[in-house]
Amino acid sequence: MPDRSFLFLLGSARTGGNTEALARAAAEHLEPEAAQRWIHLGELGLPAFTDRRHAGDGTTPFAQGAEQIVQDATLAATDIVVASPLYWYSVSASVKNYLDYWSGWLRVPGLDFKARMAGRRLWAVTAHGDGAPGVAVPLAGTLRLSAEYLKMEWRGVLLGYGSRPGDVDRDARAHAAAKTFFRGDTETEDVLY
Ligand SMILES: Cc1cc2nc3c(=O)[nH]c(=O)nc-3n(C[C@H](O)[C@H](O)[C@H](O)COP(=O)(O)O)c2cc1C
Repeated sequence: MPDRSFLFLLGSARTGGNTEALARAAAEHLEPEAAQRWIHLGELGLPAFTDRRHAGDGTTPFAQGAEQIVQDATLAATDIVVASPLYWYSVSASVKNYLDYWSGWLRVPGLDFKARMAGRRLWAVTAHGDGAPGVAVPLAGTLRLSAEYLKMEWRGVLLGYGSRPGDVDRDARAHAAAKTFFRGDTETEDVLY
């Protein structure tokens, strides 16, 4: 078993986009022993989350199908990387839907989701089409506060610029940051490169 196991959750509503390209560039610099798993949330077919907290006994049924795949992958990872394009200043709908499932997983009898997530690391990679890096502050805040809620370690955002697929390849600053991003030795809170 490798010491570190990275789950990359791709949240773009297209394939082959800038966010994935930047995440793959950063992943090239992971320790070779670290395991990597990549899941494209849009292709996974995760149904829209249903809030069952105040229905029946308030518990969440055991996961099946796409939910089980992503739940198992989440619990198997030491490091979760949300690779979401910036959509309306925050995470994409597929990432948001995945995060909404966390709320349900807190209530699966015997899963112990909150205790098991504590101490795992949460990272983000995003691409945006705006000139100003500050546009990603709401995305960073959503993920940082969610990490804090689960007592995970928040490791910040790797930010790239691009609109059309391939644009981010020309963002030299993002690619320089990608080389060291997963070292995680920066002290900045949200790390908006
Ligand atoms: C639904 C939607 C919402 C978007 N919202 C923003 C935004 O709020 N700010 C921004 O800078 N770019 C925004 N963009 C542009 C994307 O962030 C940009 O094209 C990015 O490169 C897409 O990432 P991808 O190539 O990984 O799909 C938006 C694009 C779409 C499709």
